[in-house]
Amino acid sequence: MLKFNFSNLMNDVIGEAGLAEDDFSSVNTDSAMEGILSRKYTEMEFLDLYKADVSPVKEAGKYARGFENFLLLGIGGSALGPRSILEALSPFHNLKKNPRVFIYDNVDPMTLETMLNIIDLKNTGINVITKSGSTAETIASFMIIWQGLKEQASKPEDHIIVTTDPEKGNLRKIVRDYNLRSLSIPPGAGGRYSVLSPVGLLLAEVIGMNSEEFLKGAGDMHKVCMNKDLGSNPALMFASCLYLMQQKKGRSITVIMPYADRLKPFSEWFCQLWAESLGKEGKGLTPYPSVGTTDQHSQLQLWMEGPEDKVVVFLAIEDYGTDIEIPNVFQEMEGLSYLSGHSLGELIKIEQEASEIALTKNRRPNITIRIPEIDAYHIGQMFHFFELATAMTGFLFHINPFNQPGVEEGKNLTYGMMGKEGYEAKRKEFARYRLHKGRFEI
Ligand code: PA5
Repeated sequence: MLKFNFSNLMNDVIGEAGLAEDDFSSVNTDSAMEGILSRKYTEMEFLDLYKADVSPVKEAGKYARGFENFLLLGIGGSALGPRSILEALSPFHNLKKNPRVFIYDNVDPMTLETMLNIIDLKNTGINVITKSGSTAETIASFMIIWQGLKEQASKPEDHIIVTTDPEKGNLRKIVRDYNLRSLSIPPGAGGRYSVLSPVGLLLAEVIGMNSEEFLKGAGDMHKVCMNKDLGSNPALMFASCLYLMQQKKGRSITVIMPYADRLKPFSEWFCQLWAESLGKEGKGLTPYPSVGTTDQHSQLQLWMEGPEDKVVVFLAIEDYGTDIEIPNVFQEMEGLSYLSGHSLGELIKIEQEASEIALTKNRRPNITIRIPEIDAYHIGQMFHFFELATAMTGFLFHINPFNQPGVEEGKNLTYGMMGKEGYEAKRKEFARYRLHKGRFEI
């Protein structure tokens, strides 16, 4: 099980910068838990994902493993979760294993052209993931790939696995019309809360992981996070701490700092979840991705002595699964020989603790989550933990953590300019605003 340490947020450790025990009595944790337990919004099916039957995903995974390459098309919640699974559990995957995995989550033409120069579509399985079935970026890249398959493969439909809503949307219609293989995203599991559905689990199976392990981890986390007792519910405690730090101490930036290269994409996944769920109605907490030890040499100075607006969340790893001794070389160099006889695992763990202590000494609040090892079970725990904690934080802020109204306007303006029917007014608006551009151009 993950272990949580919130001590370095408290005033008995960091003085006035910290929270007092009493502060917690001002947090309406009961109502946040009511929101969870009563499933306040229909988009809360992420709470049940750990109970799902994974046989369709296993079958699709077996099929996809028959290809030389696996290309995932998706964006936002439909790509960040799969990428964090890939990097966490099979680093440098394409140098070692088949199928090679490519994730295209943008519409940068150079990226796609480069990928298509590397892979042969004839030997490629394509997983198109879009919950809504209509996201412009994903659909545009699917259209290009479909055309490529029509030109190069004898049976284009045999290359596609669609992951989308079970009933609704354009992509589901395409599945029916073209008789494509497909998996379903539960209708009530929103994009950024969907990694433990076929969205993330198919890729997990493709890279040789057992999806049941992720769900077991999530299920075990679920059990400890469903009670109203703050002292024994880590997700509720995490939510309350970050909420209080913002309300009482004006700290609205959440730095997430895993001490593992393999978890770098995981921190990007967290950032989307935290940002898109909480940033609305003038409220929210700003996520800030980083990785240790690398960012000790890049960002730590700012956190130590810069504006007092951050809480640092360390993800510390107990067992890296391997270790490398630092050899007895350059012994004549007095300033370097101290490293010999130690190991990289020891060094990275000591550095994580050293950063924790240095921040604490400087009265900069921080939280540490200890992860026994980076495997499917614990990754499943972490996904579920942060999803629960995000939903609870949203309830504490009295906002809906499951919608994203702020991204609609940009989408509508794009539709207008790309000629989508019904968006003609947006096209005019776009043109009107475009006039402002250039006034200060040099
Ligand atoms: O969290 C969300 O709902 C969004 O970030 C979506 O994941 C993203 O916009 C992609 O949506 P879709 O899966 O419908 O293509």
